[in-house]
Amino acid sequence: MMSSHSTRRTFFAVVATLAFGLAPATAQDARRAYVPAAPDTVRAVAAEHGMVVAQEKISAQIGADVLRSGGNAVDAAVATGFAMAVTYPRAGNIGGGGFMVIHSADRNEDVTIDYRETAPAATTPQIFLGADGKPDIAKSRDSALGVGVPGTVAGLALALEKYGSGQFTLAQLLAPAIALARDGFVVSDDMADTMPGWHRRLARWPSSARIFSRPDGRPIGEGDRLVQGDLAETLSAIAAQGPRGFYEGPVAEKLAKAVTDAGGIMTPADLKAYQAVIRAPVRGTYRGYDVVSMPLPSSGGVVLVETLNILEGFQLTDLKQGTPASLHLLIEAMKRAYADRARYLGDPAFVNAPIETLTAKDYAAKLRSGISTERATPSKELVSAASSPHEGSNTTHFSVVDSRGNAVSNTYTLNFSYGVGLVADGTGVLLNNELDDFTAAVGASNAYGLVGYEANLPGPGKRPLSSMSPTIVLKDGKPVLVTGSPGGSRIISTVLQVIVDVLDYKMDVAAAVAAPRLHHQWLPDEVRVEAGFPNDVLGELKAMGHTIVEPMGQTSANSIVVTPNGPLGAPDPRTRGAEAAGQ
Ligand code: DON
Repeated sequence: MMSSHSTRRTFFAVVATLAFGLAPATAQDARRAYVPAAPDTVRAVAAEHGMVVAQEKISAQIGADVLRSGGNAVDAAVATGFAMAVTYPRAGNIGGGGFMVIHSADRNEDVTIDYRETAPAATTPQIFLGADGKPDIAKSRDSALGVGVPGTVAGLALALEKYGSGQFTLAQLLAPAIALARDGFVVSDDMADTMPGWHRRLARWPSSARIFSRPDGRPIGEGDRLVQGDLAETLSAIAAQGPRGFYEGPVAEKLAKAVTDAGGIMTPADLKAYQAVIRAPVRGTYRGYDVVSMPLPSSGGVVLVETLNILEGFQLTDLKQGTPASLHLLIEAMKRAYADRARYLGDPAFVNAPIETLTAKDYAAKLRSGISTERATPSKELVSAASSPHEGSNTTHFSVVDSRGNAVSNTYTLNFSYGVGLVADGTGVLLNNELDDFTAAVGASNAYGLVGYEANLPGPGKRPLSSMSPTIVLKDGKPVLVTGSPGGSRIISTVLQVIVDVLDYKMDVAAAVAAPRLHHQWLPDEVRVEAGFPNDVLGELKAMGHTIVEPMGQTSANSIVVTPNGPLGAPDPRTRGAEAAGQ
């Protein structure tokens, strides 16, 4: 018999499927039912020295072990990142990509690593159009054409080489991941929950079915041991040869063959050409704090700083947290910054985006002057429009701090849960469908309903625009908050709300992370609200002209605040399995 908990989850999954016409209902859909805990019942986890807050326990502990053995935050992040490729295959990955923001106290530097997937050289702007010239979402979301050249191996290796403590080799940090893949680990309830929604998609490919199915063909379940022998071999090749063990030679050939056999266009030359990039962060200031976040090809930092700049001109603390007046201002700020995202942002190697303008205080002042404190501005008055569908998926964020004042904020993903669902035969590597983040045609939208224009059309060697927003907030040059989230388009607004709740409303980090969140992304012109907002608050927002609907996608803002007494960690209570592992 199902427990009432799982009955409730199934119920919400079914409702979500009916409501949104989604592909398989998922456990993530159930999280729409998240009802926030009362602020006095959530507690941040304290540690004396360092901490890793990640979405999966084993990997968080592996990172904390590295800290305990004298590693710095980057060493720990690399170990956690590789371990999650084994233990959290829906989003942890070596077949996808992501972004890392580093505050290096050791080197007195703030820096980011862009390891976003890249479109293969044969990509054309029309690649995701059907015969009728219209976007064909099956091509970018469900087929091997959506697979971007993976960046994670190059990104984590680059982070270690440049910003690791020098006390650990890549092979040493890969060792726990290799052991977990080779010897297996016990499937958690949280991972088993994803199978009803995603197993069918995985099982389209025998190479994936072999890993994620029991011998009788049913999906793996809670308590099963998941062994990934091929993945252990691939990780061992990286340990032995560095990134070349992945981007060249037998592994690269098998990756490219798997993609082309499935109808995609990625070649061994595409893999060989892949480069992770060190980029200067997007920087902003907010009420005396420095905000350090991800630059293009993620839109996260620009949209975050633009939104914070708009909000800085309002006395949010006078309005109190969670009141209609304060929520209205958040929504109006989001709407304007997301409109600019759609219009201007794309891969900086291809697009000359007006970043300085968008992140300037005087530009924010101009936008702020168009905000009425009484009425919602219709999105169509901000810029011409197009409509959009929704779909929920997965990504994962972890935050790390060490006792030396270093901090790492890392978000990485396969885009959808388990990416495109294809494990490249003989490698154990699950491949992404990240190229759906391109704009298939001018005015079209991606799976998260994000509309785009020319700046984000597909192109050879181009990186699709992301919303991933790993962020570090500093005071007087020292990290005070490390945060980020999965959630597709909702990532940026999630990070924004955590920052506002901690900095403006002085909320305890656990309460800030647990608090219900809302989201507006310009188009569609609606506010997505989690459960937990009182009806009278929603009623007042409606009266101001806001259209209120259910949220989409899953957010999970695993965050850390740093206090004089040590770090305080907030694993997001929306999802089971998140862990704050302290040292
Ligand atoms: O890069 C992006 O913005 C998306 N591919 C992230 C996907 C995501 O967060 C899905 N998670 N719920």
